[in-house]
Amino acid sequence: MEDFIKYVQELYGTTDFIPMHEPRFWGNEKKYVADCIESTFVSSVGKYVNKFEELCAEYTGAKYAIATVNGTAALHVSLILSGVQNNDEVITQPLTFIATANAISYCNAHPVFIDVDKETMGLSPAKLDEFLSKNAQIGKDGFCYNKITKNRIKACVPMHTFGHPLKIDEVQEICKKWNIELIEDAAESLGSKYKGKHTGIYGKFGILSFNGNKTITTGGGGMILTNNVDLAKAAKHITTTGKIPHKWEYVHDVRAFNYRMPNLNAALGCAQIEQLDFFIAQKRKLFDKYQTFFRNTDIEIFEEPKDSFANYWLQVAILKNRKERDNFLEFTNANGIMTRPIWQLLNKSKMYKKNVCGDLTNAQWFEDRVVNISSSVIKKL
Ligand SMILES: Cc1ncc(COP(=O)(O)O)c(C=O)c1O
Repeated sequence: MEDFIKYVQELYGTTDFIPMHEPRFWGNEKKYVADCIESTFVSSVGKYVNKFEELCAEYTGAKYAIATVNGTAALHVSLILSGVQNNDEVITQPLTFIATANAISYCNAHPVFIDVDKETMGLSPAKLDEFLSKNAQIGKDGFCYNKITKNRIKACVPMHTFGHPLKIDEVQEICKKWNIELIEDAAESLGSKYKGKHTGIYGKFGILSFNGNKTITTGGGGMILTNNVDLAKAAKHITTTGKIPHKWEYVHDVRAFNYRMPNLNAALGCAQIEQLDFFIAQKRKLFDKYQTFFRNTDIEIFEEPKDSFANYWLQVAILKNRKERDNFLEFTNANGIMTRPIWQLLNKSKMYKKNVCGDLTNAQWFEDRVVNISSSVIKKL
């Protein structure tokens, strides 16, 4: 383990504390933010918001992109516009950040936790199929129902863990068969592709996050992706207080949200997205470095799944067991290298422990072994 500390210090060229993921502002950030301040348009209206939406749509291949205050808000709105209502069930994975389940519960719906695949760390189509075949039926109204709880299963929110694409085409097929809306949580996977197509554009909606810890950041921010013009218009409307556009009248026609990304944040985003391909190239090189370093050891570095191109947002070390994981966390954090375990499975958190779950063998396997190691972009590798 001493070797690892030394190696990371060499990579980052410092013996000071090394955070797990720092943002890099190596481009036009100051210029665009200063321009924004000079224009006085620092809030929810301004040219950078529209520009950032266009750039994100272009980059991902989505027809429309709607900027929001954060990724959680983007998920919340996507679920509402997918028709998720009180007491509906929404399928997701237990191995995701808490925001995925929280957004579902903001709709007074219930997250249902289905296992992940060992090869992807994302929702398993095989386990999803098995769960639905055993527990679901199509009702007279054409919707999918849980035979046991009698609740409607309205949507499914798979998540591309740490930027590694899951088998989204298979999940898409299963959702179609059961009339379940697909919303992709691509918060961590900007730049990641599955079978050549960007993650986040397979479902009715996809969402991105630009939190400070993500591959590119707007400080705080999110994006809703969709290919449907009416849904895009509705998303814009309910993220901007539901105000009917008019030169001076304040007329609002729905109970809506103040979820629009401010121009100041979007200015940062416009500068960051210019560097995205470079950041990803460096992250992929960093993966190669770690893979070589850990070759012939007990620690494995998670590699992008088959048919995928991963952004390698956070590098994933897989330890032998829970004890080894805890020792590694103890040692690295005590020696100035910030490392973190994967999230506690969401079905174990107080709010969701009574929720419906499938067999969660693989998710538990990852919870016992995964540690995220230093992943910030290094300029020269
Ligand atoms: C998987 C996942 N979903 C949702 C979110 C929520 O995004 P935000 O923090 O921008 O609200 C995040 C990240 O923060 C995330 O990692």
